[in-house]
Amino acid sequence: KNTSEGSITWKTPSNIALVKYWGKQEPQIPENTSISFTLDACFTLTTLKYKKRNSAQDDFNFEVYFEGEKKDDFKPKIATFFKRIEQYVPFLKDFDFVVESRNSFPHSSGIASSASGMSALALCIMSIEKELNSEMTDVYFNKKASFLARLGSGSACRSIEGELIVWGNHTDIEGSSNLFGVKYPNKVHSNFKNYHDTILLVDEGEKQVSSTVGHKLMYNHPFAQQRFKQANDNISKISEVLQNGDLKQFIAIVESEALSLHAMMMTSSPYFILMKPNTLKIIHKIWEFRAATNSNICFTLDAGANVHVLFPENEKELVNNFIVNELIQYCQENHYICDRVGIGAKQL
Ligand code: PMV
Repeated sequence: KNTSEGSITWKTPSNIALVKYWGKQEPQIPENTSISFTLDACFTLTTLKYKKRNSAQDDFNFEVYFEGEKKDDFKPKIATFFKRIEQYVPFLKDFDFVVESRNSFPHSSGIASSASGMSALALCIMSIEKELNSEMTDVYFNKKASFLARLGSGSACRSIEGELIVWGNHTDIEGSSNLFGVKYPNKVHSNFKNYHDTILLVDEGEKQVSSTVGHKLMYNHPFAQQRFKQANDNISKISEVLQNGDLKQFIAIVESEALSLHAMMMTSSPYFILMKPNTLKIIHKIWEFRAATNSNICFTLDAGANVHVLFPENEKELVNNFIVNELIQYCQENHYICDRVGIGAKQL
């Protein structure tokens, strides 16, 4: 094989946390365990072109293109990532790289692209390592890709595989680790097969709080220790629910997690309110609809105003009608994305 030059492309999904990661220690070690659904329609497509350098160099050399345009302002983040992972992939300085990346969702949609973007880059780098060392097993490949992705952006370690991924050491989750994401190890009830996530784009602006700033707010936060305990307790509870299929309990955990994440931001110093009036309107509409129809629709939130509407496959007609007729009016320019649980990253 010729590993002196080549090009690798990975398509890597975003993910949505059910139990949230918020708070970390160096080097990207989560304060609590989190679990997410891997998504499908929201993804990043990254091509990494590499060419062996003629002589040894002591700096990284790469160019970055995003949606076809040269993006020098993305370089510092990638340089930081390279610096962090270099000890695990020491061949980085042997190559000149060109990174070409695009997202399936609009850049300024308020959907975080760090999970899909960083996991895509980690997978491309792992593909080069595999070229250099073809002995590697798939298990090792995925584990190390998740390990590297974590060093780019914590939640990115949950975007390598599907459909449910756990990140963070937890006594109730066999094989779990602070260093990489693992597939949820137990049998999942059929109620969660093909679960839907329709993302309502309430505010397409840039996020007010970057997650880098956000995680730091948990240092010296008056409720930090309680929050980390709550999340870890919720991992135990949701693990039961995923096995027994109790959708009412699922809703109770997932919505509480979303509101607790925002409660942490409202009670930190400095404090933030990332929900918008339309975020709250949507939440109340969802609650009314659930009371009126006994549907199992529920919501979750990331660190922003957009609402992820979760519902089981067998309710898709009922809930889609409700979304289109009642909720879309609260979205910016009626924008929303229909997504669902996916199986993970794919090399193209
Ligand atoms: O991966 P980061 O550092 O961008 O943090 C993501 C944090 C949340 O999206 C708010 C929650 C989560 O678990 O994904």
